This record gives sequence, C-alpha cells and structure tokens, in this order.
Amino acid sequence: MRVDIVTIFPEFFGVLDVSLLGKARQSGLIDVNVHDLRDAAHDRHRTVDDTPYGGGAGMVMKPEPWGEMLDGIVTETTTLIVPSPAGHPFTQATARELAGREHLVFACGRYEGIDQRVIEHYADRIEVREVSLGDYVLNGGEVAAMAIIEAVGRLVPGVIGNPASLDEESHEAGLLEYPSYTKPAVWRDRAVPAVLLSGHHGAVDAWRREQRLERTRRVRPDLIGGE
Ligand code: ADE
Repeated sequence: MRVDIVTIFPEFFGVLDVSLLGKARQSGLIDVNVHDLRDAAHDRHRTVDDTPYGGGAGMVMKPEPWGEMLDGIVTETTTLIVPSPAGHPFTQATARELAGREHLVFACGRYEGIDQRVIEHYADRIEVREVSLGDYVLNGGEVAAMAIIEAVGRLVPGVIGNPASLDEESHEAGLLEYPSYTKPAVWRDRAVPAVLLSGHHGAVDAWRREQRLERTRRVRPDLIGGE
C-alpha cells in the first residue's frame, strides 16, 4: 500500500518511523510519503489560507495550493481521505475497507477547513472520503490522519505477525474485547479469574464471550442496540 500525506506540518509524521508501522515501512509493506503543502504556495510568504467568503471567524485553506499539490500525487486508483469533524464517522469497518485500497492520500486541513471546491473537484474524478474521528474538534487533520493510518495499516496483510490476534479485539464482531491478564496469578491481593487458570478451553471461551457481552452492554450499549 502507498500512503501520501499533505500537510503544513510534515514534522508531525516523524512518529510513523517507530513501532509496528515503522517496521511495515522498512519491510516495504507500506510506503509512506509526506508532502509540505507550502511547497505549492508560490508567494513570498508561502500563503495557504485566506479569509472566508460570507464572513465569519477563522481562515480557510486556499484551493490553488491544494490543487497543484494533489494533481501531482493522485492517480485514478487513489482514495483521497479528508479528515474533518464534519465527515462520516470513522469505524473499524471503514478501516477494513481502506486496508484493501492500493493508494491512500490524506489531505490534512488546518484552520476552518479546506475550500469545499477542492473536495468536489476530486470527488468528480476519484473516491473521496471525508471522515471524522469522533464528536470533538481537533486543531487539524494531522492527528486524525495518524490515527487512521495506524488503524488501517495494522490490517494490511503481513503488518501484524499473528493475524489471529486481530479477530478477537474490540470492535471485531461488533463487541468490545474481553479483559486480559498475565503473570503473576495474584497481584496486590487481586487474583486472576480462576477460569483462566483452569486449562479448560471451552470454559475460557465461554467466559470471554460473556465478558465481551457484559462489557459492551455496560460501556457501549449503543453497539448492541440497547440504547
Ligand atoms: N479535524 C478536526 N477535528 C477532527 C475530527 N474530530 N476528526 C477528524 N478530523 C478532524
């Protein structure tokens, strides 16, 4: 998979060199390229924003630098992702879908967002997804892009050594994950649930299933239509 990121803060993405995604990059499973939007702004101050038509607070990102930059990056197989608090909710299902794409381009907006004509222009030509991480407002799309890249990247075949570990985690099968324990068997007077030490696989599976249901009912009733 190839990933391109357009941002006015390329230094944000240094963290993609570390951990699992860093390894996936080194092994060539995911090819990540970061582009500075200001390289496509040609005035003396490398301006990328301007005041909004119609008035209002804040600044809007100008369409011309975005058009020039994206024209050099997108192809007909690109999925353009625009993180925005006004986008469709990003879920594990979205992550699974995007993990099957060959080229993701992230357009990280700042200020009050990107001139809407940029999104419309590319939506006429390629797949464009405006996605929101949740019902809160970040300062820009960078942190959202990073979260999406991590959620998608770990689903790319080969990135996670043991793919079975993906099956039982939270949000697979629409439930939250069961609680996990490791040694020692007693810590600060708290014992690991006895069933996990029983060696009885059927009982362990049944307990984990019950824990997933109980936790989901308590913490996220909306996931099982209970709210
Ligand atoms: N940019 C600003 N806020 C955001 C959010 N909640 N999700 C995605 N992108 C954003």
